[in-house]
This record gives sequence, structure tokens and C-alpha cells, in this order.
Amino acid sequence: MRYGYFDDAAREYVIDRVDVPVSMTNYLGTQRMGTVISHNAGGYSWLDSPQHHRITRFRPNGVPMDWPGHYVYLRDDESGKYWSLSWQPTGLPLDEAKYEARHGLSYSRFKCDYQDISAEQILFIPREAGKEDPVEIFDVRIRNNSSRERNLSVYGYVEFSFHEIDMDNQNFQMSLYAAGSHYENDAVLCELHYEPNAWQFFAGNFVPDGYDGVREAFIGNYCTERNPAGVNTGKLTASHELGGNPCGALQKKLTLKPGEEARVLFYLGTGKGDAAEKARKRYDEAGTDEAFAELRSFWDAKLGGLQVTVPHENMNRSLNIWNLYQSEVNVLFSRFSSFIEVGGRTGLGYRDTAQDAMCIPHAEPDMCMKRIRQLLHGQMKQGYGLHLFDPAVLEKEETDGFKSPTVIPEADKKGMLHGLKDACADDALWLIPAIVENVRESGDLSFFDQEIPFADEGSGTVWDHMKAALDFSYEQVGSHGVTKGLRADWNDCLNLGGGESAMVAFLLVWATNHFLDAARAMGRKEDEAKYTALKAHMEETCRKQLWDGKWFLRGFTAAGAPIGSQAAVEGKVHMESNTWAVISGAADREQGLSCMDAVDEWLYTPWGLMLNAPSFVTLDDSIGFVTRVYPGVKENGAIFSHPNPWAWVAECMLGRGSRAMKFYDALLPENQNDKMEIRQAEPYSYCQFIMGKDHTAHGRARHPFMTGSSGWAYYAATRYMLGIRPGFEGLTVDPCIPAHWDGFEAVRKWRGAEYRIKVTNPSHVEKGVGRILADGKPVETIPVFDEGIHFIDVELKGE
Ligand code: GLC
Repeated sequence: MRYGYFDDAAREYVIDRVDVPVSMTNYLGTQRMGTVISHNAGGYSWLDSPQHHRITRFRPNGVPMDWPGHYVYLRDDESGKYWSLSWQPTGLPLDEAKYEARHGLSYSRFKCDYQDISAEQILFIPREAGKEDPVEIFDVRIRNNSSRERNLSVYGYVEFSFHEIDMDNQNFQMSLYAAGSHYENDAVLCELHYEPNAWQFFAGNFVPDGYDGVREAFIGNYCTERNPAGVNTGKLTASHELGGNPCGALQKKLTLKPGEEARVLFYLGTGKGDAAEKARKRYDEAGTDEAFAELRSFWDAKLGGLQVTVPHENMNRSLNIWNLYQSEVNVLFSRFSSFIEVGGRTGLGYRDTAQDAMCIPHAEPDMCMKRIRQLLHGQMKQGYGLHLFDPAVLEKEETDGFKSPTVIPEADKKGMLHGLKDACADDALWLIPAIVENVRESGDLSFFDQEIPFADEGSGTVWDHMKAALDFSYEQVGSHGVTKGLRADWNDCLNLGGGESAMVAFLLVWATNHFLDAARAMGRKEDEAKYTALKAHMEETCRKQLWDGKWFLRGFTAAGAPIGSQAAVEGKVHMESNTWAVISGAADREQGLSCMDAVDEWLYTPWGLMLNAPSFVTLDDSIGFVTRVYPGVKENGAIFSHPNPWAWVAECMLGRGSRAMKFYDALLPENQNDKMEIRQAEPYSYCQFIMGKDHTAHGRARHPFMTGSSGWAYYAATRYMLGIRPGFEGLTVDPCIPAHWDGFEAVRKWRGAEYRIKVTNPSHVEKGVGRILADGKPVETIPVFDEGIHFIDVELKGE
């Protein structure tokens, strides 16, 4: 069963059955202001932080789901019938009213046909305004398809937030008297009286025929957004008040002749009345069109960094549009703004952000570098990263300004600097490949010598920071000589403390590989020698201590008991240790083939690879919280999406292109478009996890959009399956594809030049480059061209 389809030409996902059992979400905004919005226009906006600067309110995990939102209502002022342009909140019977929602890149479009009126609402946040006066535009068009004149009212409605998420949800004896609404310059304003710069506005490109600034006045007692009193009666009450629940409701009356169309614009933004006036001037109809066109070209340019043509329709669709888009949104908004993370946390998760920033440096170079600088600053001198931290707090100067006696608890820097006991073993290691991939992309070696402070004391060059991360991990080893698991490794629920983590050991080897590549590029021979030796020793230890005959152990508990062995009944085979054994290069070929066969045998499902199997059912705190999680859910035997691409990389390194594609296809959301009755999730984004075999709802995906699965899927598919990898000195094209592919094409922009890559596969092999031509001339490696268009022909011959 399906609820929608892909419109590739428009780069939109079209939901033509809007009664989807779950929210299908999208993200608006490409700079400071963001909005997460559902296919029914439910959702909320923020500026900079979804925790500390909320613009609109959301009632998460509620019934009806996804209320409230950024709504537009229409009312036939003769019959009194009214409806919303998104199916919710009025929720008319779908056999009477026709609805469609379209999610595009940083905009969403809601369409409705009812009572011979067709109407459309586009929501987007213009780019150029992002920096100073961000504003979300509701671009509304209404057309009279009937043969008589129609008198209509159009209403825009938003519910303002108390700015701080805690204030929205608790301490109402304070909150309800700290925010107020005003009406100035034909706009409804909402202020947070105790904060100097916390004005929000809702305005239109018209002089309103009515307004309300108090939620209860617009909605009415014992009504909801489904039947708000203001729309039901057709009369808004000009309410505004200091205190209470502020909202923005604006009414505009229209008379439309047969066939006539009208356009109405609403603006939601931050700032006072003059900001509303500025928005109105800047985004009149022509300004709005221009801003929308600019947003479209912004995305054209981004996606243009790499476009592929492969003989796999959904792979093209994913790599050329949705997978990159999702990865970008993750880098931009981090993880804490969704319908799942509803703003109660702010800042950056260390490992998640590092991995996000590693995966798409070609498309988002500035943002990835910004994230990397923030993470470097969030690293302790001892080498580990602050697991969750708010860079704004680190950067903030301590002041002795006015302290409010109540209200908002402020995050303080000291509290954020956690000690070793709260350190995760993997966090800072991810930063090394993230840095190195970004420098390979830009070619800017001087970044390694930039000075950046540590979170606690002192500062060091980027190079020093990388060494601190490596040194920390090489020192933190347990009784078998394998790296300790500490509070957790990548798997939040594997809490080994002084026990040892195979995954971290292999990740350390991989991070060292990246570091050594950089050391060679920088000519830092001493460091090259030192870390080559440390790495060789760790690899040796891993091969000896962690090999269990058929696959690799996941680690050891603090008491030395093996986890993930052939002898185990629960948690026998784990994805992290086996994939990383191969990716790191630490496993020898026989071990690699055997352990990835075990992954296929034990973990494969048609919905993707499970994280471990069989799920844990016996509580064992020496392994960790994972043994307290329901079997088949999240880290305990679910198809956790994020590590799935690790298996694609591993299979590509082993040269098994068909196997990699089998795993890729199982997880690819676009492949599941017609299986909504089971997967129950938006088919254009990777979800955090899918229920595993040990759960009754096997195949059901949860937590879309904000997940590291996306970056990794993009990274694995483009760099390993298609094999296009920038290096310090040249571009590698070393694909690993199914043998039946005749080849593929790709256009990759890199360091000022455009590479038009054509891969041919006349012998129908899975891997192995036979010859490379660069602009017609045979070459060993594809050189860095600083400009121009260059034609790269790669013929596969087999290994
Ligand atoms: C969540 C966390 C991530 C962690 C993963 C596995 O996705 O955001 O940091 O690695 O779970 O536990």
C-alpha cells in the first residue's frame, strides 16, 4: 500500500493520500530559522535553537497527531462552510474534499479542492533573509472554479511559543504572565516580556479585516483548531493582551469572480512591527517569487556537486535528491528539532555531528567546517569529546549581568565539561576522518595548523587535537589490550566501562589510517612512524584477541567475558565489530569474508541488517542497557539504519558488489514506497531504526529524517559502491557494483573543476579498475585539475 509517489522532475514527494498513519515530515529553512512541518502542515519553527528560541508551539506526541501547525483556513462567507488548505486540522471527509501535500527541498506545498475552490499554500523560508531577518512565508493562491462570484475569507493562523521549550511545558504560574500579544502596523506581535530580543510577528501583505492575538479568543472555549470559533463564526475579535497564550490569526476577505484567482501572503518571523513591515516590503509578490526561485537554484547548485546516472532508478533518486537533502538537513539542524526530539535538548551530539560533517563536505563545505571547529572546541585536553554540548555556551563570555530570580535555568560551561566517567570511547575518533575528509575535499592543508582552544584548558593546532584523540584511545586499553568501551561506544546501550570494545579498537585503526594519510601529505614523518607502530600493534591485538573462529567478538565485559561469540545464545553476531574489522583493514581477507558471511547469515532481513542477533532477553548490566531494551527494538536487535552502510563499505572492500547492493536495496527507503502498511514511514528519508525479526512489528520504521544513517548511506554509496573518493593528491574512482551493471556515469565537482566520469564494465565484473583515461590520456591516478571540465573514462577489468 502506498500514500504517495516521487515527482522527480519537480524534486517533490507527493502525498496524494493524506490520511497517512504517521507524520511525513519536511524541513524548511537553510540558515538560522527552521521549521519542521508535516504533510498536514503541523509542526513548529525556531530560530537558532529549537530549545531556547522557539517561535511556534507544538504539542508533541499528542492526539490528534502533529497539532498545531502553520495553518491557512478558507471560509465561504455565504454558506458558512470552512476548511483548511492542509487536510488537518479541519479534517474534512476525503470523499468530499480533495487534498494533496508535496514536500520539496526546503519547502512544502499543500493543495485542496473543495466547493469549487482550488487553493494552494506553499511554506518556505527565503534564503537571503536567513541571516538578519528570517521569515517564513505562507504563499497562498485561491481560485474560484465555479460559475458564480464567491465571497470568501482567508485566515492564517499560528500559535506562538513561550520561546523557551521548558516555559511551554511547565511552570505556568510564571509562563502565562510573561508573554503577551500586541497589534501594531497591521501585524500581530508576540513578546516575551522578560527577554529583550524575543519579539515574534505574524503579518500579511494586506490590511487585515480581522485579527486575534489571544489563542482562546480565536479558538474559543471547548473548540479546537478543527473548528476554531473565529473561522466558524467568521468574526475575529481583535484580541490582544499582556499575558495569556499568544497566537497570530489574521483574516482577509476576498471576492472572486468566476475563474478569478487571488494571491495572499502571510509572514511569520522574529522581530518587532518594523520587522513585519520590512518583510512585507521585501516579500511582496515579486519578492516572494524571486526568493522562491533563489531557494530552488540554491538546491540546484548543491545537488549539482555530484549527480549520478546508474542503472537503478531509486538509487539515482536517492543519491541525486533525497539522500543528500536529508544529510544536509542533519548537518544544518543537528538532531534536536523533529517530532521525536522536540527541542528539549540543544547543541551537538559529538559523534553524530562528527559523522554528519564527514559525509558531505562537497555539498556543505562551510557548514561541515563550522561543525568541525565547534567539535574541536568541544574536545577536552585529554583527548575525549564532550558527549553532548552546546557550542554557544562554550563560546559565551561569562558575564555578571542581571540574573532573573526564576525562569530559565542557564546551561553553564562548568557543568558541561564532564569527566572521564561520562566520556564515550568513540566520540573524538570520528572527528579525525571528518577533518581529513574535509581537507581532502578542500585541499586546504593549512587547516591542520590552525589553533583551536580545548574545552577545558589551553589550545592546540588541529593536528594536536587529532593526536590527543588518538593518544587518548591508544592509552585507554583494557586487560586484553583492546580499547575500552567506557560509558558507551557508538552503541549508546553498550556500556562496558573498563570492558573492551572491538568496535572502538577498529575505529581507532580506521581513524589512524586517515591520520597517516594526512601525515604523509604534510610530510610529518615522526608522527607517521609513531602512529604506524601503534596501529600495527592494535591490529595485531585485535586479530589475536577478538577473532572467534567465524566472526569477530563485539568485545569483553569488565570481568573479561566475551560478548558476541559463537558460544553465546543471545547477542551472538554483531554488526559493528564485524563491519569495522573489515573497514579498518585489520581483518585479513579470510576473516573478512567469513565475518561478513556471518553478518549476511545472521543479520540480514528484507528490511535491512539487524544490529545484533538474536536479541538480548536476559538482563546483564555488565553488557549494558541494551539488555534492558525490548527485543527487536532500537539497539537490541532492530535494523538500526546507521550501521547498515558500514556493511556496504565492508562488502565493497571485499569486492562483493552484488552483496553490497543486496544490503543497500534492503534499507533504501525509496524501495519501500509501496509497503507503507508495514514500513509506516516516509519513503524519502532513512529512519533511525526498523523493528527487527524479534519484534511483532518487524519492518516498521521509526524516527525519520534526523539520523546519521543518511550521511553514512550517502558516504558509503558514493565513495565505496560508486567508488568516487577525493584524496590529497588525486581523485580515486574505484567502484564495486553488481556484475550485471554495464557501468554508470557521474558528474563530480571538486576543487574548482568538473569531472565527467564514465565507468564501463565490459567484462561484467564487480570490482577492479583496468584502465583510466583522463581527457583521453592513460593515467595511473586521476590528477587534481583546478578548473575546467575533464572527461574521465574508467574501464573495469576485475581483480
Ligand atoms: C542514536 C544516537 C547515536 C548513537 C546511536 C546508537 O542514533 O544519536 O549517537 O550512536 O543511537 O546507539
